[in-house]
Amino acid sequence: MEERKWWHTATVYQVYPKSFKDSNGDGIGDLAGITEKLDYLQNLGITILWICPFFRSPEVDNGYDISDYMDINPKFGTMADMEKLIEEAGRRGISIIMDLVANHCSDQHRWFQEALKGKDNPYRNYFIWRDGKDGKAPNDLKAAFSLDAWQKDEKSGQYYFHQFAVEQPDLNWANPAMRHELYDMMNFWIGKGIKGFRMDVIELIGKDPDRKITANGPMLHPYIEEMARETFLGKNLFTVGECWNANPDETLRYTNGKELDMVFQFDHLVIDEGKNKFDILPFDFIKLKKTFRKWQEIFSDRGWYALVWDNHDLARIVSRYGDTERYWKESAKMLALTLHGMKGTPYVYEGEEIGMTNMDFENKSQLDDIESINFLEAEKEKGRDEKELLRLISLRGRDNARTPMQWDATRNAGFTSGKTTWLCMNPNYRSINVAAEENDPDSILCFYKTLIHMRKEGKYSELLVYGRFDMLMEDDEHIFMYTRTLGGRRLTVVSNWGGSEVEAPSVGNDDRIVLSNYRENGSVLKPYETRLYANC
Ligand code: GLC
Ligand code: CA
Repeated sequence: MEERKWWHTATVYQVYPKSFKDSNGDGIGDLAGITEKLDYLQNLGITILWICPFFRSPEVDNGYDISDYMDINPKFGTMADMEKLIEEAGRRGISIIMDLVANHCSDQHRWFQEALKGKDNPYRNYFIWRDGKDGKAPNDLKAAFSLDAWQKDEKSGQYYFHQFAVEQPDLNWANPAMRHELYDMMNFWIGKGIKGFRMDVIELIGKDPDRKITANGPMLHPYIEEMARETFLGKNLFTVGECWNANPDETLRYTNGKELDMVFQFDHLVIDEGKNKFDILPFDFIKLKKTFRKWQEIFSDRGWYALVWDNHDLARIVSRYGDTERYWKESAKMLALTLHGMKGTPYVYEGEEIGMTNMDFENKSQLDDIESINFLEAEKEKGRDEKELLRLISLRGRDNARTPMQWDATRNAGFTSGKTTWLCMNPNYRSINVAAEENDPDSILCFYKTLIHMRKEGKYSELLVYGRFDMLMEDDEHIFMYTRTLGGRRLTVVSNWGGSEVEAPSVGNDDRIVLSNYRENGSVLKPYETRLYANC
């Protein structure tokens, strides 16, 4: 059996600081707002809190463009607010992990401003510069957000490399001076009491743009090993890397003890995507199950898996794989149990626990996300209809996840006391909100609470954390079924992934239902019915 870690029984909660809770009425969430809601999080049962970037930033990509890693964005508060948040969280048994954006920074960062001064500047080599070819960019590499990956600097005539927005120049990891400045910064935050890192697009740091290698470059693992040694290794911290392109070998290497505790891997969330996230293909349920089975098997006795439906870059899961029209509550709970019953560490993104849904974006002015806006502009130019593009953005755009948290049914959902919010509220906050669910034992929120507590402590904790995973009925078109076993003890999860009734599969003789989203469970599975059986 694997070595036990303090975070094995944890569920991680992710906060997008701009949208969680505003404490001063300016319509923007902030650090003091998070502190206000720590009791809520403690009650939910989570013990790790990942907060998206709260550092100084011009916010071209909402804080993932950092202009000072060791200072707080004044919109979110002060260093004293951050220190208070860390302390108050610790008092409630909650460890804070920060978002480490190490692949790139903001063009407003002092390093880049210095680098722009000329080829001889000591900071020039913190970034990746190349001469053009025949008056054009060095090569045809593309960046995210519908852009070219090279940007010309008129002053020097050279191009710098960026894998995201033009305002997010890539850091040059080949430069040891740059790497050690980042390590110092990480140690600064460890000194402040943070308990780990979520590493933004960490798979890109070993890039080799001349050979057109971006993810999984040759130096990726040596860099991560060095970073681990210089900063978090042996300090009992928690680390997770964001790796969209990780294959099984890569992930096992990341989690071999010298690098990270786990990586995010998103195969189960792109199965219905074509050339990009807005190119939506029919949903293939069996492929989804095969994907989960594959990754559960890879991590059966080595490494560790991250269980994720939602984050700040993804559309809301209940709108994607559930049914918000007819079976909102049932399908949200079904998705929760299907995921939380598996082996790994579950992540809950703010609002997921109350069943927050996608938003209907009706015009461009409602959008904030650079990815969606750039997509809309680029496709409009190709002659596509704006209405249709907005429909696609309402299905998959990142702003779906970023509308403010819905706390209650009062104006602006209790997110702010102010009149406006930085991004529109989802109008369904009048019925979908924390206050409405908090005291309702049948709510999505209470269901999440049950799942989180079950994993953390009590009779089924060990089975949920360490039990062996086996997929059953993999070729069935409606049912998602698997077991978790340890010794002679067994849990079985059975979920109906559709809006029609299907015959319930047979389970072991001594299995009884310990959790479900219906009060009565018979010989058929009702729409989106989910059941957790135990033989112990
Ligand atoms: C990651 C973040 C995303 C950001 C990008 C660039 O994918 O999750 O929000 O835009 O990296 O930093
Ligand atoms: Ca505020």
